[in-house]
Amino acid sequence: MDGVLASFPLAIKHSHEGNLECVAKGQNNSNIEPTVSNTHYLRVVEPVEGAHVDVYSGPVKFFEGKTLELRCQLAAGNHVSYKWLLNGRLVSQSPLHYVADNRLLINRTTSKDSGSYMCIATNHFNKTVFTANSSEVVITVKGVVSNPDISFTVLKKDSHSYSAVVTCHSMRGTPPVTFALYRNRTELLANTTVEERNATFKVPLVLGQHLGWLQCQANNGDRIAYSKRIPLEVVPVGGPVMMHYEYDIGENYAVISLRFYCKVVKGSLPRYQWFLNNTLLHGRGSFYNVVNQPPEQSKLLLSVGRSSAGTYHCEVSDSYDSTTAISSKRQYLDKEVLNRLPVLVVAVVFGCFTVVLLLVFVCCWIGVVFRRKQYGQKSLWSLEMERMAAAYEGELDLSEYDEDADVVKTARSGEFDQASNASVDEWSQIKGPVDQQDEPVEES
Ligand SMILES: *[C@@H]1O[C@H](CO)[C@@H](O)[C@H](O)[C@H]1NC(C)=O
Ligand SMILES: *[C@@H]1O[C@H](CO)[C@@H](O)[C@H](O)[C@H]1NC(C)=O
Ligand SMILES: *[C@@H]1O[C@H](CO)[C@@H](O)[C@H](O)[C@H]1NC(C)=O
Ligand SMILES: *[C@@H]1O[C@H](CO)[C@@H](O)[C@H](O)[C@H]1NC(C)=O
Repeated sequence: MDGVLASFPLAIKHSHEGNLECVAKGQNNSNIEPTVSNTHYLRVVEPVEGAHVDVYSGPVKFFEGKTLELRCQLAAGNHVSYKWLLNGRLVSQSPLHYVADNRLLINRTTSKDSGSYMCIATNHFNKTVFTANSSEVVITVKGVVSNPDISFTVLKKDSHSYSAVVTCHSMRGTPPVTFALYRNRTELLANTTVEERNATFKVPLVLGQHLGWLQCQANNGDRIAYSKRIPLEVVPVGGPVMMHYEYDIGENYAVISLRFYCKVVKGSLPRYQWFLNNTLLHGRGSFYNVVNQPPEQSKLLLSVGRSSAGTYHCEVSDSYDSTTAISSKRQYLDKEVLNRLPVLVVAVVFGCFTVVLLLVFVCCWIGVVFRRKQYGQKSLWSLEMERMAAAYEGELDLSEYDEDADVVKTARSGEFDQASNASVDEWSQIKGPVDQQDEPVEES
């Protein structure tokens, strides 16, 4: 029997994929056994088409820490592989980024995961590559605003009118941020929403008065962040301005460096200025360095040399009003003046040492003389002790004597003499060598 060729033109759909086989059997004739061909796997490749990103986890703006899940959806295509791009750069699998099939999963997002996402779907048939790019989806992972710092400066409007310019500033957090300024926790003074992480508010101010406690609040949608509370109080500078110095001594007891300190009795926003021969010294110079530590004090560090000679003083004024300057006393210093200092110190130390020595000597001498006078008339108490010691040595029962006070008295007076005689002997024995030592001194 000749071979019969049959062909079936077929509009291929991707549902046709699978094992194909053809069956030949005799028509209306059950006597002919049907024959079945070998199976062929028909792989149907449908080019990718119409990719788009589906934000499966929900909103495109959210706070860090939440989960982001993106899926790449296609209008058509099979046997597809997917790639994800963030701001044009490939997102690869990592402990934080899970990439599988058409999914991109980021479990604990940070602000670094913000940006423009797109997916690229590809498949290929016999070396022809089909690609579909999605459009970009912008994801914003917002940073929660951090607790703001609060500070204020004083603005002088005219001679008697001032205001505090309060700055609230958060280090982190995604704008827009709503800042609010409260007084005494409950009184809202002002609020504003800004595209930055800082805001300023003007508050009327009366110098020298405590006007309550200020606090900033910041909120960018997740929770309220609070600053610490600061008192709205500005004390103008006042009282004397004190200047003193300390110095370091190098080799040969020469003063090599010096630290001036300037302090003012009161003032919450003092500005310190240093002068040498009435010339303002600021910042850092060849032989000096100004170190401000407001509001407590200011330091002027000097290295002692020819150029540092002159008359020093400091002035303190309110930082917002330079017309209030108060001056310290003036101090003339040069190398000669300074190098007298160590000599003076040595003299003082030596003097003190001498005085102490003298005192010790005088005390000892008085002590010796006093004891010499005393030994003849020893205190009754110590005599009594000696008498008792003597009584025990003689194994006397004192209770017997107690029965007859007179007997005891007699016994005591007898012992008194014995005891004092004994102690005199002892004393002269002990003092003997000392007296001998003393005598030549008295003679000379
Ligand atoms: C086969 O049998 C069917 C009915 O069973 C009939 O309709 C058809 O015409 C027959 N075909 C041939 C080629 O005889
Ligand atoms: C596949 O590619 C080869 C060579 O590139 C070609 O000979 C063949 O005809 C192609 N097959 C189809 C089904 O296009
Ligand atoms: C916030 O700070 C920046 C600089 O740090 C400054 O340029 C800007 O004016 C400030 N904004 C406000 C509202 O104070
Ligand atoms: C300051 O004045 C003194 C004289 O009073 C002078 O010796 C010294 O060189 C001056 N110092 C400076 C830095 O001008």
